[in-house]
Amino acid sequence: MKDRFDFEVVDLDDADSALVIIDQTKLPNVTEFLHLHSQTEIWDAIYRLQVRGAPAIGVAAAFGIYLAAKEIISELKKASDGKNFEFIEFSDRFKKASDYLNSSRPTAVNLSWALKRMGTVVSTCKGDSPDEVISKLKAEAYAIKQLDEDTNLAIGENALSLLSPCMGLLTHCNAGFLATTRYGTATAAMYLGQERGYGFHVYCDETRPLLQGARLTAWELSRSGIQTTLLCDNMAPSLMREGKIDAVFVGCDRVAANGDTANKIGTSYVALAAARFGIPFYVCAPSSTIDGSIPNGEAIPIEQRDGSEVTESWYERRMAPEGIDVYNPAFDVTPASDITAIITEKGIFRGPYDFTQMN
Ligand code: MRU
Repeated sequence: MKDRFDFEVVDLDDADSALVIIDQTKLPNVTEFLHLHSQTEIWDAIYRLQVRGAPAIGVAAAFGIYLAAKEIISELKKASDGKNFEFIEFSDRFKKASDYLNSSRPTAVNLSWALKRMGTVVSTCKGDSPDEVISKLKAEAYAIKQLDEDTNLAIGENALSLLSPCMGLLTHCNAGFLATTRYGTATAAMYLGQERGYGFHVYCDETRPLLQGARLTAWELSRSGIQTTLLCDNMAPSLMREGKIDAVFVGCDRVAANGDTANKIGTSYVALAAARFGIPFYVCAPSSTIDGSIPNGEAIPIEQRDGSEVTESWYERRMAPEGIDVYNPAFDVTPASDITAIITEKGIFRGPYDFTQMN
């Protein structure tokens, strides 16, 4: 199955000191890879959704902070003629760089989760040489990337155990290969199913306003040979009424302790429709997306984005009156009561949710 994923969504070019990403704002028309060197470039790429999707953002941040560490160490070495390594100064500057990257997008917990893991490595490096620090951070960033791939495969196996051949599946936004390092979360069972001859038919919501469903999910699934149909977001209930949907699979950016989940705007609407038609609604997430420090969905920070994404993006000309006030939250919260199950690499969880025994 690996062959189907014929490029890396997020990678490191260490010799060039660059984070390498496929520019997701250009897909599906142009396949362009970006080499990002500075912290500002990396911050912008995350903010502008050139790299996006909760797990992919986490991996990008891990490589990004590794590059920051390399640069800080090289500056400190230069300042001290290569003799001393001021660990305290390094550690302070590392923390500042980490806070900066963490400020690029607020909702996906995977960003802060990955940066925290990198920070934990630094806290164990006192007394190490600069080269040792760099090599430990590089190893951790690659471990985060590999963990994502392994996790998604396990999520896919768990999700597939709930499905039968020839089912119609609906998904919203892109929780696919492009949102992760491989397989995706919500799409992992679709890819595994295709490999095993399940013959799923996958329906993709286009996902206004940034069209991740149309530009990204429809692209990655159809180029893999999965039967794929695209629809506007407001068409999902009619498709459900026609009996075409057997299950809904979505990803998520943060799960609160009570099982409320934040995902791409419009997800809670799909959940409501699925509940109305008695269709199972599954949220797929790595366990790192579960944020036990947040009691419920009300406490999840929701990113608000520029109104021009609604009034101008993708149109040849502006499609709303100048100066109109725009409501443009990037995510919404689906209450645990509307979720049939949360599928992680550690198992399938059903309400009332208790993730405390998970590890
Ligand atoms: O704003 P985006 O495109 O980063 O939003 C992505 C989503 O909402 C995904 O469903 C979520 O991050 C899970 S990705 C496996």
